[in-house]
Amino acid sequence: MAFGSCGELRHTLSCQPISPSCDPGRTLKATCGGVREFVCIYSRCLGIIEKRRARNAKERMTTVLVTGGAGFIGSCLVRQLIAQSDAAVVNVDMLTYAGNLDSLARVADNPRYRFERVDIRDALAIRRVVEQHRPDWIMHLAAESHVDRSIDGPAEFIQTNIVGTYVLLEEARRYFGSLTGAARERFRFHHISTDEVFGSLGENGLFTETTAYAPNSPYAASKASSDHLVRAWGHTYGLPIIITNCSNNYGPFQFPEKLIPLVILNALDGKPLPVYGNGSNVRDWLYVEDHARALREVIARGQLGETYNIGGHNEQRNIEVVHMICDVLDELRPKSKSVPHRSLIRFVTDRPGHDQRYAIDASKIQRELGWQPKETFATGLRKTVQWYLENGAWCERALSGNYRRERLGVKV
Ligand code: DAU
Repeated sequence: MAFGSCGELRHTLSCQPISPSCDPGRTLKATCGGVREFVCIYSRCLGIIEKRRARNAKERMTTVLVTGGAGFIGSCLVRQLIAQSDAAVVNVDMLTYAGNLDSLARVADNPRYRFERVDIRDALAIRRVVEQHRPDWIMHLAAESHVDRSIDGPAEFIQTNIVGTYVLLEEARRYFGSLTGAARERFRFHHISTDEVFGSLGENGLFTETTAYAPNSPYAASKASSDHLVRAWGHTYGLPIIITNCSNNYGPFQFPEKLIPLVILNALDGKPLPVYGNGSNVRDWLYVEDHARALREVIARGQLGETYNIGGHNEQRNIEVVHMICDVLDELRPKSKSVPHRSLIRFVTDRPGHDQRYAIDASKIQRELGWQPKETFATGLRKTVQWYLENGAWCERALSGNYRRERLGVKV
């Protein structure tokens, strides 16, 4: 009997104990919904069962080092790991402009959570963190991620995304070399990347795991470089690596330089909603919680050395996305002076080298790991708008640095 698993506890909760005087935690033979053996959960047994559960969990606790855990996708992953698994999480983040510890407020006091303010390019600091926390898994999300910023200043992207990944790989290799037995078997280096490495699609077709790399922006080129480094460290040094490439994420806690949060916050303030070019560019939107769940599946059960594409099965033209946000706001803020919010839309100069269309074929991860997105765009977008309406303090803090929602990426 898999003692203490959640499924079993849920199951036994619906059972009546055979006798109030049974031994705490004793395995009972009885018929219960087709299951013949179960643990007594008579109230006085529960404490002991919980203690045993905690002890079992501790014995097999996985330690996950997440880089970029104060960012948008990273913080979602950290919150999920703490809330939905028994793992210990070490968050390595330098807290640049888009990193925000407020996004981790609900896990900050959890005994399984640790924060290390470290630059991934600092080899000695990374070595210290790795040796101190001895991770089973490294999940690498730290990156400069905004295309418009990469057009204005590519240097940071080369430094963080390429040099940073190189340093992390070297420290992971050194650490992996020191591991033996089960610890060596367990170790994984999971590199989280983007579909932008594949370039731009025409009207038809989808990015698969075998699509040739053709990055178009400095950002995409820096991520493509980091993917190649990770692959090479796997091939040459035998580092147990896995790579994932995801489509556009959206959801709560996203820094308001990206299309969806920018449009929501501008609309709330009655400011223009900038749509690049004619708004016909297509993105494949993935709710961030679905993405984090996919990452957890991949690191736990994915094939070593493999790449998995993660997408939302949800292609939308930019103008459609902006329309949908405006319509939700009309409904949720009917008294706003900006109703109809669509009146705030402005078509502005296009992004240089703007990729026309991204769309992911996510059939491999669905077939091999059974993952598929749960959120529809309508439900995910509504939740997202609602979250920004209710979290003004987080938005103010996020916007308290240098960024003032000004247009970026046009000074070429
Ligand atoms: O595809 C995955 C990528 O998605 C990630 O790797 C990147 O880190 C992430 O930034 C995102 O890249 P995009 O350039 O697609 O995201 P962004 O939110 O900047 O823009 C989405 C689309 O909306 C894009 O076609 C440009 C357009 N756009 C963007 C902004 C900020 C506008 O029309 N107006 C805007 O103000």
